[in-house]
Amino acid sequence: MNEIKIFAPATIANISCGFDVLGCCLDTIGDEMVIRKISKKGIHISKIEGENLPFETEKNVAGVAALSLINALYKKLDFGFEIEIYKNIKPGSGIGSSAASAAGAVFAINELLSKPFSKLQLVKFAQEGERIACGSPIADNVAPAIFGGFTLVKNDNPLQVIELPSLDNLLATIIHPQIEIKTADSRAILPKEVTLKNAVKQWANVGSLVHALHTSDFDLLSDSLHDFIVEPHRSKLIPEFDKVKKNSIKAGALGCGISGSGPSIFSFSKGVRVAENVAYTINEIYKKTNIDFNIYISKINTEGVKIIHLQ
Ligand code: HSE
Repeated sequence: MNEIKIFAPATIANISCGFDVLGCCLDTIGDEMVIRKISKKGIHISKIEGENLPFETEKNVAGVAALSLINALYKKLDFGFEIEIYKNIKPGSGIGSSAASAAGAVFAINELLSKPFSKLQLVKFAQEGERIACGSPIADNVAPAIFGGFTLVKNDNPLQVIELPSLDNLLATIIHPQIEIKTADSRAILPKEVTLKNAVKQWANVGSLVHALHTSDFDLLSDSLHDFIVEPHRSKLIPEFDKVKKNSIKAGALGCGISGSGPSIFSFSKGVRVAENVAYTINEIYKKTNIDFNIYISKINTEGVKIIHLQ
């Protein structure tokens, strides 16, 4: 196997109540990457389409994640890898753009090396890409990108990722307003301390959300999608957030919140008809603004990074 083409999925981190710990993987939004073995040692970014990103390996999220993987190999390689990146997910969108690149690179190289590493180890390598993109090695986007479905990052050091079940017929409607919010900036505005009252409400919701996924309980899922800690601060950075949330729920969504560090907003719905109603409602709100935007509807991707071809 010398070459692999993959789909590197977008992801929703936090899922309202689970700041920095919960995430889920999307299906219809993502990048493509081609990675091939070459005789020149090391990691070389040979092509980037769709976005203006650095070609220097040490400055590129995919490059850094890939380097961290090959540096961890017991036996040093006498060949290298070339990476082509076809970006569809805009950096600073809140749907895991850097995570897709990092997760895609390490997944693909692991396949070409006949899988020496576990998924958990791949998350660790991909976290190194997140370190340069977000300022800290957050795993809540790279974990669902690699494992698929819903994930809970139980612990950072040592890394523990718990795979959670997904619900059939659960759809996400995502609006991506075309404004960039850097993760580091949207973290900087968060309070350093939270009240005990809010913390209690928040962890009760994380627990009930996990239970809802295990018991396929859409009502409980809906009743768990609240964020008392982060959303009140970050929502101010996102035009029309309150209106989008209120009207999505009115249109039948189970819940609505900020995707990752924003500006994207996600709504969960049961069934495609509701998800489309929600998309229509959000479109009506945003078309009255002067902000460009994209709206997507996606199933939950339970597979994570997908192989398009392997040769
Ligand atoms: N949990 C992160 C945040 C998202 O909300 O800042 C990026 O991983």
